[in-house]
Amino acid sequence: MLSLQVNGTFELMLQGKKILLGITGSIAAYKSIYLVRLLVKAGAEVKVIMTPSARDFVPSLTLSTLSHHPVLIDMFDEQSWSNHVALGRWADVMVIAPLSCNTLAKMANGQCDNLLLAVYLSATCPVVVAPAMDEDMWHHPATKENLKKLGSFGNRSIPVGKGELASGLYGDGRMAEPEEIVQFITDNFFLTRPLAGKKAIVTAGPTYEALDPVRFIGNHSSGKMGIAIAKELYSRGADVTLILGPSKVDITDNGIHLIHVVSAEDMYKAADEAFEKADIAIMSAAVADYTPVTKADQKIKKKEEQFSIELTKTKDILKSLGEKKKAGQVLVGFALETNNEKTHALEKLNKKNADMIVLNSLNDAGAGFGHDTNKITIFRKGGEEIQFDTKRKEEVAKDIVDTIIRVHYA
Ligand code: CTP
Repeated sequence: MLSLQVNGTFELMLQGKKILLGITGSIAAYKSIYLVRLLVKAGAEVKVIMTPSARDFVPSLTLSTLSHHPVLIDMFDEQSWSNHVALGRWADVMVIAPLSCNTLAKMANGQCDNLLLAVYLSATCPVVVAPAMDEDMWHHPATKENLKKLGSFGNRSIPVGKGELASGLYGDGRMAEPEEIVQFITDNFFLTRPLAGKKAIVTAGPTYEALDPVRFIGNHSSGKMGIAIAKELYSRGADVTLILGPSKVDITDNGIHLIHVVSAEDMYKAADEAFEKADIAIMSAAVADYTPVTKADQKIKKKEEQFSIELTKTKDILKSLGEKKKAGQVLVGFALETNNEKTHALEKLNKKNADMIVLNSLNDAGAGFGHDTNKITIFRKGGEEIQFDTKRKEEVAKDIVDTIIRVHYA
């Protein structure tokens, strides 16, 4: 299950958005309560419409309390008529979750025997459905045909999950989790892409400097921070090249151009080439500062009591990009320090001609290598110093990318 960052990006993107949530008669309707809660918490205005049979699955009082609006079920009651056209025009997006087999069939055929269907047929906004049904119903050709028809009307469908079903069977047909539905809506309708058209390069992970065919000098960097930054840049619309040292973290985002490297020299060559066309370069790799002068062709044999290795300095990638930096290029470096943190970070900012240095101190709990969290301070050229709390690395990546956007692209 995804974790929802209600205080982060979703909140920004869903703030003030008008969402019409349709709930149909399915056991998965209990999850819609949580969906309303998440949407409202993220700042969206939510109006709920239920089909009459949905009433058997969830209490409308719970939904009206959470959404702060009356729940609409009937076309008419004694006092009023629900204006389905106005509702369809009010919303920024209409989400039907869960979508039962029956309502799916009616939508596909333009039937209109309840308020939810009337609003659907009147909606001028995008419509998203999250189907929920038992596996056999889900795999029936009629269901597939109906869903295809919705697709041809321009409606979007959130894939069902596999798992335990209301029937007790295990299989396909579970409604997507509320967090996934929020993510889908955000990604597809409300994501702003301020970095569209920009090229970004990110270095991440350790480098391995070979001593012989079986040994190397390396470090404990996991690459998680740089990978999170690459993903964040990508989700904001940038064309991202990630130059990754030997990291065990899997990257599944197929939109990111991934260049695997091993040594500091390989990383330098890849970064140097990509920098030419880059608008943003973020150097988060823990590059080895020294590399063996010679790499033995064969495995080094154990002989003398004492053994020393002659090392030579690697090229400082950040510094060399800083020397080549052209107007308009944004260069960001990292500083991992154990003492005199601010002084060292400012030295790196100046010496390497960076626009920002992201400091993480090993003295802060939950910061640095190996952790899933980090605590950073950003030092900007010109003197601004921005401190952040300890956060998950994905959140830290958002803070870094937000700062770049605010300073250079707002
Ligand atoms: N860096 C780099 N190439 C190197 C060494 C460092 O690009 N050969 C980059 C890192 O990716 C980071 C920044 O320089 O963005 C600072 O790295 P760090 O290891 O903290 O500093 P160093 O310059 O290596 O200095 P020291 O190890 O003495 O603190």
